[in-house]
Amino acid sequence: MDFSNNIVILILLTLVLVAEAAAHEWRTIPSEEEKKEMERQLKDINKPALKSFKTEKGEIFDCIDIQKQLAFDHPLLKNHSVQLKPTSVPKWISSNKTSQKIDPLKLLPKGISCPHGTVIVKKITLQDLIHSQRLKSIGFNSPRHLRHVLTEGNDIDLTGHHFATLEYDYSRVAGVTGNLNLWDPQVSHDQVSLATMAIGQGPIEHLASISVGWMVNPLLYQDHIHLYTYWTADGYNKTGCYDILCPGFVQVSKRIPLGVLLHPVSVYNGTQYEMDLSLHQDRVTGDWWLIFGGVNVGYWPKSLFIGSGLVKGAYLGSWGGQVYSPTTEKSPGMGSGHFPKEGFGKAAFVNNIQILDGKGKALIPQIYTVEAHESNPNCYKSKFIHDDDEPWIRAVYYGGPGGCIGKLSMN
Ligand SMILES: *[C@@H]1O[C@H](CO)[C@@H](O)[C@H](O)[C@H]1NC(C)=O
Ligand SMILES: *[C@@H]1O[C@H](CO)[C@@H](O)[C@H](O)[C@H]1NC(C)=O
Ligand SMILES: *[C@@H]1O[C@H](CO)[C@@H](O)[C@H](O)[C@H]1NC(C)=O
Ligand SMILES: *[C@@H]1O[C@H](CO)[C@@H](O)[C@H](O)[C@H]1NC(C)=O
Repeated sequence: MDFSNNIVILILLTLVLVAEAAAHEWRTIPSEEEKKEMERQLKDINKPALKSFKTEKGEIFDCIDIQKQLAFDHPLLKNHSVQLKPTSVPKWISSNKTSQKIDPLKLLPKGISCPHGTVIVKKITLQDLIHSQRLKSIGFNSPRHLRHVLTEGNDIDLTGHHFATLEYDYSRVAGVTGNLNLWDPQVSHDQVSLATMAIGQGPIEHLASISVGWMVNPLLYQDHIHLYTYWTADGYNKTGCYDILCPGFVQVSKRIPLGVLLHPVSVYNGTQYEMDLSLHQDRVTGDWWLIFGGVNVGYWPKSLFIGSGLVKGAYLGSWGGQVYSPTTEKSPGMGSGHFPKEGFGKAAFVNNIQILDGKGKALIPQIYTVEAHESNPNCYKSKFIHDDDEPWIRAVYYGGPGGCIGKLSMN
């Protein structure tokens, strides 16, 4: 190709990107009408607080009656009675750890404490709703890390999504666990970088999935790294949302709100921190429980998924990283911003990876049951660790410096 052709292509590409950016901008400033509608929604979302706390950063945490939380606005949960704890708790296999687990009970600023019979939730603001609209319009309404979603979902626009994960799709999955290494990658205002652990079930158009982990997402969480959750019962179409932006998740913890700031984070070639997450289906009720550092945070009731899978377990488990960037910008770093080959202390990891089988027994996945996946190996990689002389039995190193634009590598 000669020089002038290159220039023409570059100009065309620039025009496309500029047009796309303009279209996004145009769709994201809400009208007065839309603002009024959002204010009405806020009244429904934020339940009356029995106690309320404002942090130095300006976030508000409310203690609300456990029986009157947003989840019960969901039509399928009208007759649901709150489960205070799971009836079955997985006996995960303990492993030697080489880094420090953070204590989820020490995440909120001192002095925040909710009375008996209440749960703690982050108050949603008008800004939060405007930002979540913007997230949708820029193309990141949901994390899309499961490989078959990316390969089968041809009609879905996945431009700007990149992932590097380890996936288990060998047999029934009644739960997953892993220690997610904590990092605080730099992103621009419209970008996202996350670490995830997920379960899923069904073909793309009916995909039922729950994912949990940490996320840097200025639109959703302003700054730094926050605990995030996302669920869908229909392939990210009509159901599901982050955290408690819509009815679904039943919070039981008075101490760990969804969306809470996570700290401390790991230092390159220094101290490594991780959080220990477990997601499992209760053997009696069928609800999907989130447990963080041994503390019950809450659950997604089985009824959310009736007719769409996840009622009788999942068939996919996934661990790793994902980033999103509008195609007008170079994609951000994933994990520590370094490739897996740098190893412990430098590359991001998820260790102690296990699954819960259909009988509720914890298993260390066999080597042939998991596979590493990279959507764009020029920018992000994932590496499965299964050697006995590594610090862990099963783990995945993932991440990279980014710098991709769409499918192109700019490195
Ligand atoms: C709730 O219970 C009432 C009375 O038993 C019943 O008519 C209704 O269908 C139930 N709703 C749901 C969503 O299960
Ligand atoms: C933990 O480390 C000790 C000492 O290095 C070793 O003997 C033991 O087998 C390890 N346990 C596991 C589950 O790897
Ligand atoms: C999303 O849901 C709508 C209405 O339920 C349906 O018409 C549409 O085909 C669905 N889209 C996808 C991609 O499944
Ligand atoms: C990592 O830390 C060690 C010991 O502190 C030091 O010798 C080494 O030069 C550091 N490596 C990098 C790449 O920073």
